[in-house]
Amino acid sequence: MSVREFAERGADLQLVGIQKRFPGFTAIEELDLTIPAGSFFALLGPSGCGKTTTLRLVAGLEEPTRGRILIGGTDVTDTKSHERPVNTVFQSYALFPHMTVIENVAFGLKRRRIGDALGKAHEALRLVELDHLAQRRPQQLSGGQQQRVALARAIVNRPALLLLDEPLGALDLKLRRQMQLELKTIQEEVGLTFLHVTHDQEEAMTMADTVAVMNKGAIEQMGAPAELYELPRTVFVANFLGQSNLFTGEVVDTTSTALTVDAGGTRIVVPTARAQRHRGTVAVGVRPEKVTLHTHEPAGSADRNVVGPGRVLDVSFSGVSTQYLVDLGALGTVLVFAQNVGFGPVAALGSEVWVSWEIMHGFGLDDVPGEAGRFPADDSTTSIAAQRRDSLVSELEEG
Ligand SMILES: Nc1ncnc2c1ncn2[C@@H]1O[C@H](COP(=O)(O)OP(=O)(O)OP(=O)(O)O)[C@@H](O)[C@H]1O
Ligand SMILES: [Mg+2]
Repeated sequence: MSVREFAERGADLQLVGIQKRFPGFTAIEELDLTIPAGSFFALLGPSGCGKTTTLRLVAGLEEPTRGRILIGGTDVTDTKSHERPVNTVFQSYALFPHMTVIENVAFGLKRRRIGDALGKAHEALRLVELDHLAQRRPQQLSGGQQQRVALARAIVNRPALLLLDEPLGALDLKLRRQMQLELKTIQEEVGLTFLHVTHDQEEAMTMADTVAVMNKGAIEQMGAPAELYELPRTVFVANFLGQSNLFTGEVVDTTSTALTVDAGGTRIVVPTARAQRHRGTVAVGVRPEKVTLHTHEPAGSADRNVVGPGRVLDVSFSGVSTQYLVDLGALGTVLVFAQNVGFGPVAALGSEVWVSWEIMHGFGLDDVPGEAGRFPADDSTTSIAAQRRDSLVSELEEG
């Protein structure tokens, strides 16, 4: 794959031992990643964790300090950006204002002298359901429609690998949700490999086959959305992907099936197979929707953790569900999400309650809240703004 081809199918992407140092700042410490051909892969993480840097490395807009990048098995680390079988859709989709929609989409093909540029451009526009607006100019389109044109303009090149850097960030929530589903459908239709970067956990979980959660330049955990949600391995993943109730304590008993943790005098049992650490100080957790609220002390049971009594600190009713914040004394507070299957809340503010959850729903983490990170946080956004500008310029040049 020396010069970019018009790909019929996606290629896989491999990042091997990638490190990226900027003067005075390490954006990526050590990154190893394999994305299978034809998959929809999401890189999820907070602002400044290195998502855009990763995409820029793959696109060839940035050189790694160390490590190799392979696309479809070919080492492209030393290949120029425009020779890689990659296209990028940036957050700020820069369409050429003086060209019509169809001219915008056909531009790259024409420049690369690929036959039937207009026919292929119409096909890409049909895919994003905008062919009827082919003769309009970008400023005559809504934000969402412009975004879809930007997508068509990237897809029309049939890059073996499509990089999407928060492409839906400028859209309002409803349009964003709609575009998420559309993007997913398009990916399934064209069969190319999509690498999507976002800080929106719901977006990542809705769209991707595989989600990699990135924190401070490293991947903390990777897997299918449901797998990551049900069995987070670190404090960061447990809190970044949805909400979690976490308890820190000492392991007081371990068997092949269950681990007992003493957290502030309360015994909590988790399945050994669902715990990363089996001795010493550990953090164990459970998702708020897995916790049941009781207004009377429930009978003890071998397969449930029962904690209480505690006091309801806060009740927040949100229609389909009610969120309760329960003070459990030395154990801390617990958040409970309860479906409103009856009428209104089941426990009043200030009332005495117990909570329980199935042992099999708990998990044990590899770290505990408050452990020091690998390197200090850097939230400077100046360099990010500069990159946005750079990326726009290079996208315009790239056509
Ligand atoms: N050219 C540069 N020089 C120095 N530091 C940089 C440079 N580019 C990026 N960084 C730093 O590297 C880190 C990762 O930046 P990056 O743009 O990849 O983050 P991101 O995950 O895309 O964040 P966001 O969600 O805000 O877009 C940040 O701390 C950023 O300040
Ligand atoms: Mg970014």
